[in-house]
Amino acid sequence: MDKLHISGGIRLSGEVRASGAKNASLPILAAGLLADTPLTIGNVPHLHDVTTMIELLGRMGVGVTVGEGMHVEVNGGRLTTPIAPYELVKTMRASILVLGPLLARHGEALVSLPGGCAIGERPVNLHITGLEAMGAEIGVESGYIHAKAGRLKGARIVLDTVTVTGTENLMMAATLAEGRTVIENAAREPEVVDLAGCLNAMGAAVSGAGTDTIVIDGRERLGGCEYDVLPDRIETGTFLVAGAITGGRVRVRSTRPDHLDAVLAKLREAGATVETGPDWASVDMHGKRPVAVDIRTAPYPGFPTDMQAQFAALDSVADGVATIVETIFENRFMHMLELRRLGAELRIEGHTAVIQGVPRLSGAPVMATDLRASASLVLAGLVAEGVTDVQRIYHIDRGYECIEAKLRQLGASIRRIPGART
Ligand code: UD1
Repeated sequence: MDKLHISGGIRLSGEVRASGAKNASLPILAAGLLADTPLTIGNVPHLHDVTTMIELLGRMGVGVTVGEGMHVEVNGGRLTTPIAPYELVKTMRASILVLGPLLARHGEALVSLPGGCAIGERPVNLHITGLEAMGAEIGVESGYIHAKAGRLKGARIVLDTVTVTGTENLMMAATLAEGRTVIENAAREPEVVDLAGCLNAMGAAVSGAGTDTIVIDGRERLGGCEYDVLPDRIETGTFLVAGAITGGRVRVRSTRPDHLDAVLAKLREAGATVETGPDWASVDMHGKRPVAVDIRTAPYPGFPTDMQAQFAALDSVADGVATIVETIFENRFMHMLELRRLGAELRIEGHTAVIQGVPRLSGAPVMATDLRASASLVLAGLVAEGVTDVQRIYHIDRGYECIEAKLRQLGASIRRIPGART
């Protein structure tokens, strides 16, 4: 298994480009199942999760062509086998995003039930009850969700909890349902808005995306279109924290700073000078040590759970004591124990971590446990004295495009050691 070998202590400086958003690319690829003509998607990041979704679509008989610059064409007109097998779903929970489109378009879907995962239980009950409200019959057989429906019927669905992929699944299913669907307590994440933009370009009638009430008027059919995925706000935030944690100065271009309000506010609170333009954001820490910042994760536009681990790394070298409260997932503190191996002083009480910043961390071998946890360990490695080897980095390849090349562009000493034993 590959590992990342980091020599810490270099102040980062320079500019990187944000890639397209993983969490928008995955539902938009799945939306290709809804159309009977090809959907061409641009700005798709080159990531393992994207490859998994492409493979999943291919197994269903859907034609997928990957062109230059990761333009992906999905030809849903050729769908033959509405099955998402266990061996793919187990590697990527977001595979559940094919359930709604398959059911709406094909009338039947067999999707492996995602199991538990490293960051918690992560059920899909709201996806299922929402589709049932639209007239689907759903059972679980041999570990698979088996869903059947004639044409789905519009319904009013009130989500118990704000769920991002749940909102996306139901929104996609509703585009081909008969009549109007109203999703209440919908997720407001920019990726939901991006998916709605793509669906509308395909001929759907979705309004209200970005608010907590989304209204979808079902159509008889959808066609393909050309659509560019929005920039990745979590990748952007991660590079800005890389600048801040090393006392450096980093600018991220081709991004959307307006999707990062909560993150930028915390970087300012940590003592960084933050500047933004229409499509860029920068931090300058002027060589200073960050000030500790409290974090409480919340659905968008609150502070994203996908940035919690990166701020834990920042707080572990900050001046002061920080409290981090994780409200979205029940087991998302695995990185904290690894940060301790680098010398972080922290304690965990349930969903809260209390971090006493220390002036310096010292490099050590650490193990990545999930995607954002690995980003946190890389950030800590950038500032730790000496060498940090981050093992099991296949997690980071799921969600960060060429992370080591981009960090090197900013002056970091980081390289991938292929095939090293862990
Ligand atoms: C998405 C993102 C992930 C991010 C998360 C929260 C994608 C591909 N992934 O994941 O990066 O960390 O949003 O912003 O976009 N829940 C239920 N029942 C359900 C569905 C969810 O109880 O049927 C709960 C979950 O256990 C969790 C909360 O709702 O506590 C939010 O989860 P959800 O928004 O669904 O996360 P994902 O869509 O899986």
